[in-house]
Amino acid sequence: MRTLGLETSCDETAAAVVEDGRRVLASVVSSQIARHRRFGGVVPEIAAREHVKALLPVVRTALAEAGIGLDDVDLVAVTSEPGLAGALLLGVAAAEGLATALGKPLVGVNHIEAHLAAPFLAEGAEPRWPTVSLVASGGHTHFFLSQSPVDHVLLGATLDDAAGEAFDKIAAILGLGYPGGPAVEACARDGDPKAVPFKRPTLDPDKLDVSFSGLKTAVKYRCFGQHPDGRPRDALLPGFRVADVAASFQAAVVDTLVAKARLAVRRTGVPRFAIGGGVACNGPLRAALKAAGAEDGFEVLLTPPSLCTDNAAMVAAQGHHVFRARGAAPLPLVARSRASWPRAS
Ligand code: KG4
Ligand code: ZN
Repeated sequence: MRTLGLETSCDETAAAVVEDGRRVLASVVSSQIARHRRFGGVVPEIAAREHVKALLPVVRTALAEAGIGLDDVDLVAVTSEPGLAGALLLGVAAAEGLATALGKPLVGVNHIEAHLAAPFLAEGAEPRWPTVSLVASGGHTHFFLSQSPVDHVLLGATLDDAAGEAFDKIAAILGLGYPGGPAVEACARDGDPKAVPFKRPTLDPDKLDVSFSGLKTAVKYRCFGQHPDGRPRDALLPGFRVADVAASFQAAVVDTLVAKARLAVRRTGVPRFAIGGGVACNGPLRAALKAAGAEDGFEVLLTPPSLCTDNAAMVAAQGHHVFRARGAAPLPLVARSRASWPRAS
């Protein structure tokens, strides 16, 4: 069964073809990063307009790379929640048009649950349930106990900034550019992660919630100091190096996420941990998770780097799982900017 997936929830326009929910035949991503860079973040109106331009070319390229025509598509899957309302609506409208014209079933996919499907697209990864999973992206830092690809219970989440958002904000503060994650990681390679011993924002050591906003404030005031009126200063205080601050911040985020991953595995008794989302690209985080898994005796499934940030292969894969579990979505498909999950008691 071949699924054509579409993704337009934020600033990437993507299309992909995935066979049987496992084999990626094509995954094409058109990034709008260059259009948003001068604003330092995603501008929703620009994102929607760019999706209009990029969507059909991206679909054509994905079909060509998969070596199939539209008639060979068995299912159309599209991200329908959560995301920017205008951006989501464009993908949903296009997917509805395609599915209706082709006479093929359509499913709406939750973007976060699609990130949870991505680790299983790695070569040789065997989906086994239950699994403890983490989506660490620009908008979410959510720990789940997943009983199947479509059954996720929330174990804990960030109470303020998401991990990716923290990387983006620290990159902006340090003048490293946008998006912040890759920029901070690259800069941190020349830095000492122990140079600035930031407090690890683990909040309650027994809970699986996290917080990164205090870490951001600590970077601002500890490394930049304060004007007499209370604002942080514009330049680093003498003695602080940008690379050291970047490395120390990154180490604090990595330590926090790894500590909570260990706790989630211990708490649930499930010896498997999967991670997806843009922050899962982060090299030191990947290495630290693997090391924790080896030490504590749990399996660690990492999303392939090319499928960590937003893409449509994960949407097509998740669409396949959703279709098998629940069948086609009734039309019209509703786009929702927010999503929620049942929370573990
Ligand atoms: O999953 P994603 O593409 O979009 C959302 O669904 O939000 O994640 C984007 C986020 C951004 O905040 C970006 O800075 C972060 O993922 N990111 C990284 C890295 N690459 C992307 N964070 C840390 N290290 C990276 N290498
Ligand atoms: Zn995402």
